[in-house]
Amino acid sequence: MQDVESHASLTLIDVPGGLPWLGHLRAFKHRPLRTMSEWWCRYGDALRFRLGPKTVHLFSHPALAEEVLLSQSERFGKVYEQRRPTGLALVLGNGLVTSSGEVWKRHRRIIQPVFHRSRMTAMANRMAQVGEQRLAGWKAHGERSIDIAAEMMQLTLEVISQTMFHTSVAQHMDQISHSLRVSLKYAFDSFHNPVHLPAWIPTARNREFGRALRFMDTLIYELVAARRQSGAQHDDLLNLLLQARDEETGIGLSDQELRDEALTIFAAGHETTANALAWTWYLLATHPEVRTRFHTEVDRVLHGRTPTADDLQHLPYTRAIFDESLRLYPPVPAIQRKTLTETTLGGFSLPANAIVLVGLYNLHRHPAFWADPERFLPERWLDGTRPPARCAYLPFGVGPRACVGTHFAAVEGPLLLALIGQRYDPQLAQESVEPEVMVTLRPKNGIRMTLQRRHQPVTFG
Ligand code: HEM
Repeated sequence: MQDVESHASLTLIDVPGGLPWLGHLRAFKHRPLRTMSEWWCRYGDALRFRLGPKTVHLFSHPALAEEVLLSQSERFGKVYEQRRPTGLALVLGNGLVTSSGEVWKRHRRIIQPVFHRSRMTAMANRMAQVGEQRLAGWKAHGERSIDIAAEMMQLTLEVISQTMFHTSVAQHMDQISHSLRVSLKYAFDSFHNPVHLPAWIPTARNREFGRALRFMDTLIYELVAARRQSGAQHDDLLNLLLQARDEETGIGLSDQELRDEALTIFAAGHETTANALAWTWYLLATHPEVRTRFHTEVDRVLHGRTPTADDLQHLPYTRAIFDESLRLYPPVPAIQRKTLTETTLGGFSLPANAIVLVGLYNLHRHPAFWADPERFLPERWLDGTRPPARCAYLPFGVGPRACVGTHFAAVEGPLLLALIGQRYDPQLAQESVEPEVMVTLRPKNGIRMTLQRRHQPVTFG
């Protein structure tokens, strides 16, 4: 295994074959994940390529990840500008994922407490309740196959809605899923399309995007209005957002700020976990020996009971399965930044405004840091084993902009796996599954699985 320090000096390689004007856009646009992975294997840990007018740097080494996200994080900002929104900011506005500076700092201070560890027990109970409700509907599927990725999306959407907003979105599920899919795809395409038409030009695509946004805006504004009207006091995110006051001015969040933060948590809080769970079911279905050990653990610990937050400490293998799935299929496959000033790192210089991608997908499969990197091996996480190097494993990012929902997801993922895994054994009902990047790393066209029921373990007490 390599020592991270010994590679602090890396050479920046220009990816060959860029076309005039377009650069490497064609290869990247069609298959961003495969292209980034192939370039990394061929040319190394620090690369430069062009997407139309933009020059992009791809870093796939832990030492570079550490510099960008931790030790020099003040020199690397988010790529979004409030005045000229692009990419995710077109959908999420100036919420926690897309904002910067003082607004971000203030809002992170407001939102962070909702994810405190002390709240996780109550949240876990809610998560499990939602899981039970959805499982009750699974009986109707019988032997028919379902798209497990879509199912996980609906499950985690309902979880986020019930835990953060104390409301059910079950009756709007199809429309929310559709609207989020349309708008995230639009946002993602706008990033690497140099001729992306502004949203106000009435093309069919822009109109569809507009409808999707209006639907989500209405949903959020109605949610806020209903809470204000009822005056109900729930211990949730919506309450924190409504109660928040600026320390100096005493002014609360504007409706637009409320909308941006609420929609950000809706989107960031379910899409990532849903994809992580979908990939986990896929990996379990294709690794019978892991599945057997998983079933043995959940049966032994739960005896058919609904899992709680406390059970998780007795389910190390289930947690290891989730960690290993996040390694092989990180829902955020690359973290994007831009340099705020001219910056030197890893022995080379980047100009101001240079775009940087920290390639988590590549980092997580780096053969210099992981033994047998392509293999699904939950055992590598047992007995308190730590990642092989600092910043070699970053599914939730690191540094000031690390995921605010890390604990939430680390409870939700294994809890839902255990809850479902003790009753069902999802079997793969299609030949192969192809990963696709659309903001997050998702299975292209979903994953068809049949929901084979498992025996009911004996319940004691
Ligand atoms: C397996 C599940 C999840 C994964 C893999 C994940 C991954 C990430 C990553 C890598 C980042 C950092 C992005 C960057 O540095 O630019 C991030 C940020 C964020 N995540 Fe997550 N996330 C997950 C679940 C959640 C959940 C459950 C929530 C909320 C309930 C959430 C809310 C956020 C927010 C608001 C940010 C922006 C934080 C900031 O910039 O201050 N995420 N997430």
